[in-house]
Amino acid sequence: MLGVMYGIGLWYGSTLVEKNSIRVGDMFGCYFSFIIAGMALGEAGSVATDLTNGTSSANQFYHIQQRNVEMKQADIDDPIVKKQPLKGEIEFRNVSFVYPTSPDKLVITNLSFKVRHGQTFAIVGPSGSGKSTIVSLLERYYDPKFGEIFVDGELIHNYDIHFLVLFSKKIFLTEEEGGDLKKNKHKIM
Ligand SMILES: Nc1ncnc2c1ncn2[C@@H]1O[C@H](COP(=O)(O)OP(=O)(O)OP(=O)(O)O)[C@@H](O)[C@H]1O
Ligand SMILES: [Mg+2]
Repeated sequence: MLGVMYGIGLWYGSTLVEKNSIRVGDMFGCYFSFIIAGMALGEAGSVATDLTNGTSSANQFYHIQQRNVEMKQADIDDPIVKKQPLKGEIEFRNVSFVYPTSPDKLVITNLSFKVRHGQTFAIVGPSGSGKSTIVSLLERYYDPKFGEIFVDGELIHNYDIHFLVLFSKKIFLTEEEGGDLKKNKHKIM
């Protein structure tokens, strides 16, 4: 089909040259311009799907980025950003928590503990007792309903959230179901 079109193009061009309507150079210039433009348009069509996907992903990204997050704000003017790495001392002081979707069900009630730097600390309990929830609070997916959480002696919500994200990358959640803890090389912190 393309060959036929090229043939017709050359034939029509040559008739115009014969009539002295156009010059040979103009004919070939026009001929190749159409071929190259056609190929470019064809390639542009193949990225249309990627463009649509990219636009939709960018929309979702900006929607998530600009939403209002209900997060406890820092009590201080300049949220904490430390130059040196955090030691990782953790204290829960009388922490109680309910999930926003089940506001009547206390998942954690008046929990207090302190983990010092370098100390090994295990959270053990039956399914549904709130172990993963404790880690979620430490990663600031949620804020406690009552009580306070301290990291290196500072209230957790006073840290700059972006700085805390770097800290939370060092937190690994290892779930054990009656296995041998020694066989698992992961650490909580
Ligand atoms: N996103 C949520 N929304 C509402 N309730 C939740 C949510 N996640 C967990 N829960 C509830 O909170 C309680 C504690 O759950 P959590 O996952 O912290 O327990 P767990 O000790 O980690 O359990 P498992 O040993 O099975 O992992 C459970 O009753 C659970 O149903
Ligand atoms: Mg869990």
